[in-house]
Amino acid sequence: MPTTRTQVAIIGAGPSGLLLGALLARKGVDAVIIEQRSADYVLGRIRAGVLEQVTVDLLDEAGVSERLHAEGLPHDGVNLSFGAEMHRIDLKALTNKHVVVYGQTEVTRDLMDARAAAGLSTVYEAQDVAVHDFGGSQPRVTYTLNGEAHTLQCDFIAGCDGYHGVCRASVPADALQTHEKVYPFGWLGVLADVPPVAHELIYAHSERGFALCSMRSATRSRYYVQCSLDDQASRWSDDAFWAELARRLPADVAANLVTGPSIEKSIAPLRSFVAEPMRFGRLFLAGDAAHIVPPTGAKGLNLAASDVHYLFEALRELFLDHSEAGIDAYSQKALARVWKAERFSWWLTSLMHLFPEQSPFEQRMQQAELDYLVSSEHAMAALAENYVGLPY
Ligand code: APR
Ligand code: PHB
Repeated sequence: MPTTRTQVAIIGAGPSGLLLGALLARKGVDAVIIEQRSADYVLGRIRAGVLEQVTVDLLDEAGVSERLHAEGLPHDGVNLSFGAEMHRIDLKALTNKHVVVYGQTEVTRDLMDARAAAGLSTVYEAQDVAVHDFGGSQPRVTYTLNGEAHTLQCDFIAGCDGYHGVCRASVPADALQTHEKVYPFGWLGVLADVPPVAHELIYAHSERGFALCSMRSATRSRYYVQCSLDDQASRWSDDAFWAELARRLPADVAANLVTGPSIEKSIAPLRSFVAEPMRFGRLFLAGDAAHIVPPTGAKGLNLAASDVHYLFEALRELFLDHSEAGIDAYSQKALARVWKAERFSWWLTSLMHLFPEQSPFEQRMQQAELDYLVSSEHAMAALAENYVGLPY
């Protein structure tokens, strides 16, 4: 049974695990990533695409942002539409910051390419991954590769293995508190090689439900419409999707909608979830392993990045400065930012969607809040500072 050793065993090669690996490598801290899927499978997942400035800064620090700066689309504003009107929130004027539209798939690809170019170790298609003894001083990870059992000894385990991963599931239930809210609708998403309907994103509130106009490039668009949870993507023809999207946008915007064949069409449920704490002895959770946000605020990847920032700083302090202060503070620091992003994502989701059994009073409250929002500089600034990302 081959046994190897590393300083940090990272479980999961999604954006969290890859980014942590990249940052640690730059400080000479040894890490091995263990991933249960293939690299192609990981790259096949389609996710959101709005990066906060702090996320871009972190990708700069990790040395993986060259293509992001060349191909990413900096956006100084974002639009809210409701009724027949569109309202622009001037992110730049309100916060002096912007966001960058660049797909999570591309971030993941850049991280993978940099890792491969640096010759850093990633084990793909590992089976039966299990984490052991993180309550003591000598944690281990075991897995099977091509039918052979492996053991990886390490100082710390980083659980970057997503919502369905093994790390959070390995923590004794009485050491973990979980909080969850499941929303009574999903998002039907379509990716298509058509130019975006507008230069900046549009979050649309309508009587027929929420819609979102996003993009990946000047020639590729990503659109979503709120749908019911028992709906199926296969029930939607492309034509039906475009017609429904158009109905949820102001008429003058819908008139500019360029339609075309979908490349991908799928339904995602919406959920808020937090597990706390995020540290158990020598096991740390980061990213989707610890929390989920509904996609309305585009915070999923950005929150994964802020966890990784705090965890990287903590591990750097430990290995380079021999101080445990950082790892002791990790959970509390990460969760403080997580809960604020959870609040923002929940608030924007609640404001923009049509809820089943929503009373006329509740509808008027949504409308009044939207009216207030776009007429108050302070309210717009509050939205803007959360959207561009709270400081670390
Ligand atoms: N062993 C090894 N790897 C595992 C295991 C396991 N038991 N379980 C899951 N994994 C892998 C998954 O295959 C996946 O590649 O862990 C990785 C987790 O990646 P993500 O789910 O992308 O999570 P994370 O890296 O935290 O990224 C968060 O992803 O879901 C979006 O909105 C979210 O943008 C955010 C980002
Ligand atoms: C996306 O481009 O897929 C996207 C953008 C913004 C969101 C969610 C998803 O809030």
